[in-house]
Amino acid sequence: MKRIGVLTSGGDAPGMNAAIRAVVLTANAAELEVVGFEYGYNGILERQYLTLTPYHVNHLIQHGGTVLKSARCQAMYSDDGVKQVAAVLHELAIDALVLIGGDGTFRGAVQLSQYYQGALMGVPGTIDNDVDGTDFTIGFHTAVDTALDAIDKIRDTADAFERIFLVEVMGRHTGYLAVAAGIAAGAEQIICPELASELDTAKILQHIRNAQQHRGRCSYLIVLAETMYPGGAAALALELERQGVECRASVLGHIQRGGRPVGADRILATKLGAYAVEQLLQGAHLMMAGEVNAQATLYPLIKTGDKQKKVDQYLLSWQQQVAQY
Ligand code: F6P
Repeated sequence: MKRIGVLTSGGDAPGMNAAIRAVVLTANAAELEVVGFEYGYNGILERQYLTLTPYHVNHLIQHGGTVLKSARCQAMYSDDGVKQVAAVLHELAIDALVLIGGDGTFRGAVQLSQYYQGALMGVPGTIDNDVDGTDFTIGFHTAVDTALDAIDKIRDTADAFERIFLVEVMGRHTGYLAVAAGIAAGAEQIICPELASELDTAKILQHIRNAQQHRGRCSYLIVLAETMYPGGAAALALELERQGVECRASVLGHIQRGGRPVGADRILATKLGAYAVEQLLQGAHLMMAGEVNAQATLYPLIKTGDKQKKVDQYLLSWQQQVAQY
């Protein structure tokens, strides 16, 4: 193995830069050349790439976003597009490719393996934490803290007015972010797909009324996972108001994707980026470098989207029981 590629793809996540840095430093120490493709798989198709040396990743570990840029690549949804990507990788003599992204990126890699002769290695980077085979994905810890910072501020104003707030967090079709941020913020309710596939407004209102009965007038925060209600938190707030409970909505949105990665994400990204390259050198292929119980581990890329990983059921059911009293 002489020349490896690296790219970041899908929703960017804080710590992706730290992962790129670890890939480049580890590869450099093993005398591998590293080609960084820009804009995810698009950079391969468009031949937008640069050779990355330790100089390029100097003091990169602390920066949010991704220096390689990111994108979702339409061409990867067609067989022709996938073949083209494989052809360019062969033409550029890329012996192996490190893909930093989420399950969509990894699905693309599995498709690519039909036509590409080199080795493929995933590194999980997404704020959603919705990837099997790793306890945490790069970016998740930072996104939780970013959401928490905002929710704590909302609590201050909610307390001052003794108001009810709906705070919508990201997470695509999963509630890892909602559960973590909701528990850490001491939210009164968490609404996420793992709890119920359909949202029940009567139940939400009952919970609010119970809390008000036990505590008197007080602030009350509901953390809502995106995709749980058509139109999101704003529409749900209107619906609750229609049913007699005044409430404000706040959608945290893309701020959850940005910012300086927290220490836990920098450490995870460094470990997984390094491990990915080391394992490629050992002959690994079609694997993801993950971390389970603090141990770096390989997991088949094809299984990363199986959704076997559970949200913290213990904390979630504890929260459900105690928060209305
Ligand atoms: O996968 C990361 C994520 O931020 C999800 O939480 C969210 O549903 C989605 O990406 C938003 O995508 P976009 O940046 O295309 O709006």
